[in-house]
Amino acid sequence: MRLITKNEGETTALAAKIAAKLKGGEILALIGDLGAGKTTFTQGLAKALGVKGRVNSPTFTVMKLYKTKHQTIKNLVHIDAYRLSNSLDLEAIGWSDFHDPKSVVVIEWADKIIDILPKQTVWLKFAVKGANGRSITVKNFSPKPPAKTKHNQRVRQIKNR
Ligand SMILES: Nc1ncnc2c1ncn2[C@@H]1O[C@H](COP(=O)(O)OP(=O)(O)OP(=O)(O)O)[C@@H](O)[C@H]1O
Ligand SMILES: [Mg+2]
Repeated sequence: MRLITKNEGETTALAAKIAAKLKGGEILALIGDLGAGKTTFTQGLAKALGVKGRVNSPTFTVMKLYKTKHQTIKNLVHIDAYRLSNSLDLEAIGWSDFHDPKSVVVIEWADKIIDILPKQTVWLKFAVKGANGRSITVKNFSPKPPAKTKHNQRVRQIKNR
């Protein structure tokens, strides 16, 4: 599904629609240009899940966990992979401990760590279309999935560390 949002509010509204479909355990992988709306989308998601307070991009902290007010989703885990060199950096901070059925994990710049993301990851690709237009492609977008063998090798490598 690909659609164009015409302003920030429409991106927030789209995030709320997607939030309504979440049950917990999902990983949302956000990719696309600088300023394309990944954080805005995450803020919309957070608001819809009942997160209190401000959600900012965890560019320096890499990962932030927010408590929600949702029935089945207890935590929203916001990761910004922008400053990571690779997925081992993320493994080092123990992100996978938070990938559980009671959490939704949202990852900005997820293309940096594609090799450790499971097959069922939901991909959202953001692109700038003029001053306030943003194209958002959901789910069926999949940026070059790594070969399965490579993925398995990587997982083994991480587990053996
Ligand atoms: N349709 C739109 N949807 C979302 N944001 C929009 C839209 N139109 C304009 N904007 C503006 O674009 C900017 C999007 O910034 P945001 O931080 O969400 O992008 P980002 O993809 O997270 O960037 P970064 O790559 O730096 O993390 C905001 O300033 C927002 O107000
Ligand atoms: Mg951002």
